Amino acid sequence: MSRRPGNPGRRLANGGGIPFISSMNSRSRSSPLLSIGLVVVGAILLIGYCYSGSGGQIADREAVSRLEGAVSCTLEAQRALPVLKKAYGDSMRKVLHVGPDTCSVVSKLLKEEDTEGWGVEPYDLDDVDGTCKSLVRRGFVRVADIKYHLPYRSKSFSMVLVSDALDYLSPRYLNKTLPELARVASDGIVVFTGLPGQQRAKVSELSKFGRPAKFRSSSWWIRFFMQISLEENEGASKKFEQASIKRSYKPACQVFHLKAYP
Ligand SMILES: *[C@@H]1O[C@H](CO)[C@@H](O)[C@H](O)[C@H]1NC(C)=O
Repeated sequence: MSRRPGNPGRRLANGGGIPFISSMNSRSRSSPLLSIGLVVVGAILLIGYCYSGSGGQIADREAVSRLEGAVSCTLEAQRALPVLKKAYGDSMRKVLHVGPDTCSVVSKLLKEEDTEGWGVEPYDLDDVDGTCKSLVRRGFVRVADIKYHLPYRSKSFSMVLVSDALDYLSPRYLNKTLPELARVASDGIVVFTGLPGQQRAKVSELSKFGRPAKFRSSSWWIRFFMQISLEENEGASKKFEQASIKRSYKPACQVFHLKAYP
């Protein structure tokens, strides 16, 4: 199924009050930049070829993915924590993060005062460091398939923060997963998703996530949230915007603030 009936670029230009969407999109569509990009990619491939020892190819591919502007929304969520804290205050007292590399987010949350951090890793936890292993051992981080029931009681967390996870689910699963996230939250849900046109060319991506990410427009997401009766948390959205400006935080992902179910 294609997510782009008609012309997604034009449709996005007026989408969602997130001004940088249109600029990102037009940049990725302009052909002079593309050709410059191709030349640079070529140069990097050449350099990669010259370096080609063992593992040379992986390093080289990573360079290319950085060049294409690969973005990790989990990293974005991590960067956003101080801004979220400002916007949400007490609603950050017990946070569940859902997404890849959740150990890094949970570690950061646990360093904050008056904040409990918990995590669900939807994919594999391979190659993790000692800190992460300890978080898993102590039960702060769990590996769970988010297509199904989450292993927590209703309203267990004041906030649920999800990044880089929903992009990999089809609407059929989103229909179950999003209400599940809402179920375990008492105050709100914050969703970080990729921007359309964004590249996330990790070498390991396909084997890990099972399917490529699908970056949907903000209007797509807003429609979807409405379908499953998740309302925008306007108060939090506004506060988040103000706090972002104050701290010069410009998210490279789409950020949605939703209310938990009453
Ligand atoms: C998801 O749920 C909504 C409302 O419950 C329904 O209208 C929609 O058709 C469902 N979508 C899929 C793909 O199952």
